[in-house]
Amino acid sequence: MLKKKLFAKFLFFFIIFNSNLLASEKEFLHVDWSFKGFTGKFDRSSLQRGYQVYNEVCAACHSMNLLSYRNLGEPGGPEFPINEVKNIASSFEVTDGPDDQGEMFTRPGRPSDKFVSPYPNVNAATAANGGAYPPDMSVLVKSRKGGADYIYSVLMGYEDPPANIKLDDGVYYNKYMDGNKIKMSKPLMDDIISYADGTKATEMQMAMDVTTFLTWAAEPHLEARHKMGIKVMIFLIILTVLVYLSMKKIWSRVDSEM
Ligand code: HEC
Repeated sequence: MLKKKLFAKFLFFFIIFNSNLLASEKEFLHVDWSFKGFTGKFDRSSLQRGYQVYNEVCAACHSMNLLSYRNLGEPGGPEFPINEVKNIASSFEVTDGPDDQGEMFTRPGRPSDKFVSPYPNVNAATAANGGAYPPDMSVLVKSRKGGADYIYSVLMGYEDPPANIKLDDGVYYNKYMDGNKIKMSKPLMDDIISYADGTKATEMQMAMDVTTFLTWAAEPHLEARHKMGIKVMIFLIILTVLVYLSMKKIWSRVDSEM
């Protein structure tokens, strides 16, 4: 009896908790991401395009301090061929040193270098953006409620403000930001870049690709984790069958004596 009550309570809170989760996520735009779910995988070409969007648009303001160029060639990520990773890295100028004379110098980037930041420090970044810091994007998807849906929604959420709302210079109306205000001008417009693979660069396409790229950056081992999960499930199913069969076998004599 007690057990039944406990179970009922558990079920009750489980349902309430889950419906809360659903309710709070519903406010964001919802995309059927390929990486969601138990067997989810990243779309390789979307990751590669997403890097292009980050590099050509977002990297002007947002750093990604935790990533190195070599990560772009690793399994489970955009998987650029090694030559391309070297080309990407060497297209950046990296400050290194000090040399024999104690001077800092610049050289072309190498795959082992971290992504180059647009600003030397947080204060410089904040000062250049009207007093708002463009957050580092390495783990942004994981650190925001709503994750990928949230990022996508912010990118697609720019609208003209309702008539009763006055916005200061450098402040924009966005449906999905807290307070509906954001100090980032709308970053994506149709055809602001041209994709290396020929895909049409619509606003929506770029928003999806860059969000996919940012999700991978925040969770580079997602695919490996999903693969391991499937192996564990198969193992558990086999184990359950074996345990069931041995139980049958062990109790079979007891049955026959009854
Ligand atoms: C001109 C500079 C600039 C560019 C380019 C830019 N951003 Fe931003 N971004 C900002 C600033 C500044 C903020 C902080 C806004 C605020 O706090 O009001 C911001 C905030 C954001 C946020 C909200 C972060 C949070 O704290 O929840 C997201 C998401 C975002 N940017 C994504 C992007 C993406 C994706 C791109 C590229 C497609 C991009 N941004 C390009 C300056 C920029």
